[in-house]
Amino acid sequence: MTKIWVLAGILVIDMCALTPRGGAQQKRKKDAAAAGQKQDAGAQPKGTKDAAGHEWFNHAVFYEIYPRSFADSNGDGVGDLKGITSKLDYLQHLGVDAIWITPCFPSPQVDFGYDVSDYEAIDPMYGTLADFDELVAKAKTHKIKIILDFVPNHTSDQHKWFLESKSSKTNPKRDWYIWRDGKDGKPPNNWTSTFGGSTWTLDPTTGQYYYHYFYAQQPDLNWRNPEVQKAMLDCMRFWYKRGVAGFRLDAVDTLYEDPDLKDNPLLPGLDKFGFPNEHEIYNKKLPEVHDVMRAMRKLADEYNAVLIGETWTANVAELRDYYGEKNDELQMPMDLMLTQFPKLSAPLFREHITALEDAGGWPVFVISNHDIRRSYTRWGDGKNDDQIAKMAAAMYMLLRGTPIMYYGEEIGMENNDPKRKEDVQDPQGRRGWPAEIGRDGERTPMQWNDSANAGFSTGKPWLPVAPNFSTHNVASETADPNSILNLYRKIIALRASEPALREGKYIELNGHDPNVLAFARQDIGGNSVIVALNMSDSAQSVKLELGKVAAPSAKATTLVSVGATASEDRSISLDPYGIYVAKADSRLR
Ligand code: NOJ
Repeated sequence: MTKIWVLAGILVIDMCALTPRGGAQQKRKKDAAAAGQKQDAGAQPKGTKDAAGHEWFNHAVFYEIYPRSFADSNGDGVGDLKGITSKLDYLQHLGVDAIWITPCFPSPQVDFGYDVSDYEAIDPMYGTLADFDELVAKAKTHKIKIILDFVPNHTSDQHKWFLESKSSKTNPKRDWYIWRDGKDGKPPNNWTSTFGGSTWTLDPTTGQYYYHYFYAQQPDLNWRNPEVQKAMLDCMRFWYKRGVAGFRLDAVDTLYEDPDLKDNPLLPGLDKFGFPNEHEIYNKKLPEVHDVMRAMRKLADEYNAVLIGETWTANVAELRDYYGEKNDELQMPMDLMLTQFPKLSAPLFREHITALEDAGGWPVFVISNHDIRRSYTRWGDGKNDDQIAKMAAAMYMLLRGTPIMYYGEEIGMENNDPKRKEDVQDPQGRRGWPAEIGRDGERTPMQWNDSANAGFSTGKPWLPVAPNFSTHNVASETADPNSILNLYRKIIALRASEPALREGKYIELNGHDPNVLAFARQDIGGNSVIVALNMSDSAQSVKLELGKVAAPSAKATTLVSVGATASEDRSISLDPYGIYVAKADSRLR
């Protein structure tokens, strides 16, 4: 269907919506049916790159859903798959192309799904495989692809593989996990878990320790065992055949450990759980990780699927490694570095973007997720919070790359942190309180309206709704033309309609400005969209270096202006955190 958007008085026709998308998929559907396979509805037909060599995910907007907290269809206080299905209209209207659902597989929920006890089923709390199939099918009619979360590093301690493995030293699955004898009555080495304490737990049945980088209920698989590799790739295939368009890969860094189990060097100080800090050189980011990424990519390519990596990196060079030397690993390693910036700062962001551009690769921007304090809370100053949320949206939606939103970001959801230890659900917070309060605050129920429980559930939600739900919710923000939600909708529509924003290169403007981040995106035809974002809490006036992208006589046509005024002399006044986006009407000089 043709979409027509009115942006700042300009009529924009979404050409994407005019493009027939279904033809090749129909053929693939027929082929799959002919082969007697289950149809892989979300995957793309081969050879769908555009002229710039880009694939669907390069232009897409992804949206992360924490299923416990998105929409509860049966009133048990926990979200579910039917709940997600019921919100597809909302997601389509927002402009989302793909949803990443954090683990919804059977799990004892020690780590809220990141402890999987069966990789090929749906946890009853979320529904059934039939509900999943329905979600895939309905999402397809909304032009939304489904990305699942694959947890390759560890299973639940209740997974049948681990139950077999721990049953005896001679069990055929013993070597599927990492078992070692202790040393002088202590664990085999000094490695400490990222969730607190030793990474080793003694199992009384066989008197050996098993290794777990995360909780003791999350034993690490032994990726050096080819049987493990095959079993895990088979699980991925199971979902590809059911129609998923790709996976977000959990904790890829920790797949391998040094076989000699050398002690990690100690660093000064203690971690939040009171254990010595370590330089994790022997149990993190081992080179073998890349062999697995390549194997997963090979399989993904069979289904034209996309792999998104949970890639925590210290710098852009490290991030670059995850694309693979021959671009044969992850298509979308997440840049999680923006989430760690201590403050909003034009020079800091500019420097990072320049490093990304210099490194090559297609950036993947994230500003919050289920493990990180929400950007609204992190970047908010208590005075300009909504405007900051809008400015952040314009930044990561308009840069060259693919954004991954976190549910609720589009309405300005805030963190709602537990105030007392007894209220904490996340074991990380229960163990580390008060230095580590856990991740409940960023996982609260989606705020649909201002009724009880924010319209998330008719029952008592598993986590309390954040206080700002009465003002920041989908219903009220839909009705308010100046809301954060409507700004997101506008900007996402703009991404879809402006080739320069979809494909265009990044051109830095006003590179020395200490407060305003300004850039242009320019397509191969020379059409440019210019963006100026005031990243400071004081009003700014800038004269953009338009000569870098347009003829001296060029006029700029405003596309989005929030707290901004453009003057005849081409200078732009920006309120604190103001946003100005315009199209440069003429081509390069
Ligand atoms: C990263 C996930 O995002 C986090 O929520 C989880 O606790 C750990 N990996 C362990 O799976």
